[in-house]
Amino acid sequence: MVAFKFFASTLLASTVAGQNTTLRYMPFGDSITEIICWRAMLWEKLQTTEFASVNWVGSGKTENNCGDSKYDRDNEGHSGFLAINIANANQLVGWLKTNPADVITMHLGTNDIVQQNKPVDQIIAAFTKLVGQMRDSNPNMKIIVAQIIPMGLGSYNTAIQNLNKAIPTWAQGLNKTESPIWVVDQYTGFNGGSDLRDGVHPNQSGDTKMANIWYPALVHALEVAKADKLTAATKVEVPFTA
Ligand SMILES: *[C@@H]1O[C@H](CO)[C@@H](O)[C@H](O)[C@H]1NC(C)=O
Ligand SMILES: *[C@@H]1O[C@H](CO)[C@@H](O)[C@H](O)[C@H]1NC(C)=O
Ligand SMILES: *[C@@H]1O[C@H](CO)[C@@H](O)[C@H](O)[C@H]1NC(C)=O
Repeated sequence: MVAFKFFASTLLASTVAGQNTTLRYMPFGDSITEIICWRAMLWEKLQTTEFASVNWVGSGKTENNCGDSKYDRDNEGHSGFLAINIANANQLVGWLKTNPADVITMHLGTNDIVQQNKPVDQIIAAFTKLVGQMRDSNPNMKIIVAQIIPMGLGSYNTAIQNLNKAIPTWAQGLNKTESPIWVVDQYTGFNGGSDLRDGVHPNQSGDTKMANIWYPALVHALEVAKADKLTAATKVEVPFTA
């Protein structure tokens, strides 16, 4: 009996040690995720929480003169990319293979609308495929999807609002307990004039607003992801309780 207990606890210890419980967060999107400063601001806000050491992941390290030399720049923001093209080319599969994540934020659809006037249903279909690929990579992926910011140039905001309107119902339909989708509204309260530096990308004011919207959702998603990892670590005890 003593020997058996010893064996059980040794196995538990080695299994837990073999798991890397460092949480990983991927900021995923287009230039509004790549060449902006909300990532730096969001990282700074996390430093005051238990999630200061979360590993930000992604193939890009783009810095945008944010005046911050400390933050983790890793991200999967791709300037000019359409959600539809990323989905059609299965690019997210490789990106997540190289840099697996526990939590992901997605701000996409702007280029689908601005560059190619793609209809809402096609963008939403791409989102569905992308969520499937996130879950293929990690069945417990915690997913935060943005209702996207307005544009300051052209007349795209009706189309953007139509996409944004479709997002909550779509997300509800795909929601899963182990892989929740949370929708955050980056449109409301964002000024398509004074919050953008060039009609497309947030300036300091816009970056601050975006970071403030992502922040509570990201903290919550990290809390849920952390709880999952702790549960997974304790579950290895179960076969030995009888
Ligand atoms: C866990 O992963 C992080 C980053 O991915 C790394 O810095 C750390 O050394 C790893 N820890 C272990 C115990 O492997
Ligand atoms: C998905 O489920 C989570 C709870 O697991 C909930 O907090 C969230 O609001 C749901 N998402 C949507 C879009 O309804
Ligand atoms: C950009 O942000 C600043 C404040 O951060 C604001 O005062 C300014 O009006 C904005 N710039 C433009 C071009 O709207």
